[in-house]
Amino acid sequence: MDSAALPLPHAARPADLRRVVAGWRAAGETVAFVPTMGALHDGHLRLVEQARLEASRVVTSVFVNPTQFAAHEDLDTYPRTLERDAELLAGAGCDLLYTPTASTMYPEGFATRIAMDGPALGLETDHRPHFFAGVAIVVAKLLNQVQADVALFGEKDYQQLRVIARLAADLDIPTRIIGVPTERDGHGLALSSRNTYLSEIELDIARRLNGRLAAAAARIRAGDSIDVVERETAAALLSDGFASVDYVAVRDAECLATVDDGTEAPLRILAAAWLGRTRLIDNMAV
Ligand code: PAJ
Repeated sequence: MDSAALPLPHAARPADLRRVVAGWRAAGETVAFVPTMGALHDGHLRLVEQARLEASRVVTSVFVNPTQFAAHEDLDTYPRTLERDAELLAGAGCDLLYTPTASTMYPEGFATRIAMDGPALGLETDHRPHFFAGVAIVVAKLLNQVQADVALFGEKDYQQLRVIARLAADLDIPTRIIGVPTERDGHGLALSSRNTYLSEIELDIARRLNGRLAAAAARIRAGDSIDVVERETAAALLSDGFASVDYVAVRDAECLATVDDGTEAPLRILAAAWLGRTRLIDNMAV
């Protein structure tokens, strides 16, 4: 589309982005950054709203990052709604939309990978082994390009949030990483760009996921065995109508290591399950 028609300032190249941000910095402003893949919904806008409280200027990126999709995943069909996204961002008070192209992000000869352990081990990685390498490289690049004071990520993608916090610490990226609570619909379903794939019947089933996790968290708090609760919650999701369950797991809330019953550490319960061709994830504090 013609970027001149977008309802807010827009940059597609890192140099243009830098020029705008440098101008703000020279005027003494602070900068918050919200990276997204577009198809924006109220969950993304919640991040922009929080970003406005954290800094005087807000940059949002829309980039459907090819390196975090496996060949069989939905890169080609991932919803792309840039015009609408730009309107929502303008309405939410975003100051600059950054939309790099795949060839600016990954030019001919691009040769760098980031391999992570720690919070990147297990959970999503067991089912999407390519995923965090793709997220880590794109987020490292975006953070370097924007050079914001703070960057905001949703707790909806909790493992991603922990991975990015670790990445920023390990690579001495000075941007402070902030987690924002999950935005849900009236039935508790975590908002997701992929929810648009769900049929009416699937939506009904999807809305049971958060209740199952809340019940599981309550059982853990009451002293039930983690193993048993994980197993029984997965079985309950199957009986609800989920086609399959990738994992239901209780982990250390910060490093995502496995934990023993009776631990004093803050815990998080995380799950991923399939409904037809749609994969849903959710999590909550125990
Ligand atoms: P995307 O799925 O577009 O999500 C962008 C940001 O919005 C992420 O930080 C995600 O956790 C947050 N988000 C999504 N749904 C949310 C909800 N219901 N409540 C609160 N926050 C929510 O996550 C990605 O893009 C990409 O992996 C990215 C980090 C941009 C790297 O490509």
